[in-house]
Amino acid sequence: MNEDKVRAAQMAVERIPNQAIVGLGSGSTASIFIDLLAKRAQDEAMDITCVATSVQTQQLALGFGLKVVDIDAVDRIDVTVDGADEVDGDLNGIKGGGAALLFEKIVAVNSSKNIWVVDSSKQHPRLGSYKLPVEVVKFGVHHVFNLLKSWGLSPVYRQQEDGNYLTTDSGNYIIDVDIRDFTDLPKLAKDLKALTGVVEHGLFIGICDELLVGNTGQAYRRPDQQQQ
Ligand code: 5RP
Repeated sequence: MNEDKVRAAQMAVERIPNQAIVGLGSGSTASIFIDLLAKRAQDEAMDITCVATSVQTQQLALGFGLKVVDIDAVDRIDVTVDGADEVDGDLNGIKGGGAALLFEKIVAVNSSKNIWVVDSSKQHPRLGSYKLPVEVVKFGVHHVFNLLKSWGLSPVYRQQEDGNYLTTDSGNYIIDVDIRDFTDLPKLAKDLKALTGVVEHGLFIGICDELLVGNTGQAYRRPDQQQQ
């Protein structure tokens, strides 16, 4: 197990109050968090209710004995802990490496606080080293693909090991795009969201409130939140 991811997950577990409704992210670091959260909840007899961001996370959390409910069964999510594929100095990031970006974003925007757990390899001065996932409905997907190509985004369909296109928990495809030449990312986020057929994209701008970096043990707050 990656010690840096374990440390970041441990820092996040310590931030979970009793009786919290907790959003559970997806991916390897979020999975470590789920394991550690379940252990703490059991050791300290905590009353924790969880909402999952993917089928895989839901199964994992249930397997660890956590209480998991549907997102629509709760009025609020107090804190969500998730990983990230890339994060910049303003705590904006790219997510969706595990193809769970749609549910991850729905849970995140309905959470009072979002904590990201990463190792320092995920930190970059500007976003774009990692390909940006775009989730697209299957019907007419090649037309969206061609449009993204015409925008200079070098799109690539995400494939499974057997060569078939990967299908998300919502039954959509993922197209990974190269955003290195795009400097105005809020505009790109808006333009992608406005495309018919696009369900969601992995640009998470202004969503992460606190970034926990395992190998340095550092915690960063989003610049506009530092005084709070
Ligand atoms: C899944 C995600 C993950 O949070 C992201 O891929 C990071 O994963 P890991 O912790 O395994 O590096 O966005 O859709």
